[in-house]
Amino acid sequence: MSKKKKVGIACVIAIIGLISAVLIIIPISQREVITPLETVNASGTTGRILVIYHPGLSSFPSGIARKFAEGAASKNWIIDLSTVSHESPSTVTMYNLIVILSPVYGGKPQTVISTYLTSVDFQSKPVVAILTYGMADPVDAMTNLTSQITAAHGTNLLQATYLAGVITTEQFSSAYQLGANQSLIDAI
Ligand SMILES: Cc1cc2nc3c(=O)[nH]c(=O)nc-3n(C[C@H](O)[C@H](O)[C@H](O)COP(=O)(O)O)c2cc1C
Repeated sequence: MSKKKKVGIACVIAIIGLISAVLIIIPISQREVITPLETVNASGTTGRILVIYHPGLSSFPSGIARKFAEGAASKNWIIDLSTVSHESPSTVTMYNLIVILSPVYGGKPQTVISTYLTSVDFQSKPVVAILTYGMADPVDAMTNLTSQITAAHGTNLLQATYLAGVITTEQFSSAYQLGANQSLIDAI
């Protein structure tokens, strides 16, 4: 078989691989993930935080959510972790603070996160917006997310972004510090 033909076949296989990856990965990335609500530090006395997050395809977004919870537990908060779905808590009366965490997909927050934000009323409570991303700094995605939080009557308190795939330990310790941040306590 000629070299030209071999290269041609390799290109075709690569294109098919790319198309099928896109056709598989995109729908999976936009799916709803239903898991039981998980409470961290149930005997905490500082207050109660609701963390609504999309776990992503890798373990990075969940890792950031858990590190945040660890940091908040170190300041004696109670933390309820919920993967975003139609089963996520949609009333926030029992919470002092809410965290919305989403991977950036196609330059925007994940679809189910946006659906959730149209169904909840944050009663002017403080909200922390967190994005995980893989390419350029997600400025537009964060503007998109904070405006959705405002539309849901949330008070945008803090925003943070974490880059997937590089120096993960630093990203995780920064997420821990965010959870342990005194300004969360000062905000309630
Ligand atoms: C389908 C898909 C689309 C993505 N789109 C973007 C994007 O527009 N901008 C960006 O910075 N990262 C993008 N990423 C990277 C993710 O935001 C990054 O990997 C992440 O935050 C971790 O999510 P993951 O566990 O699903 O990879 C995309 C990832 C996937 C799977």
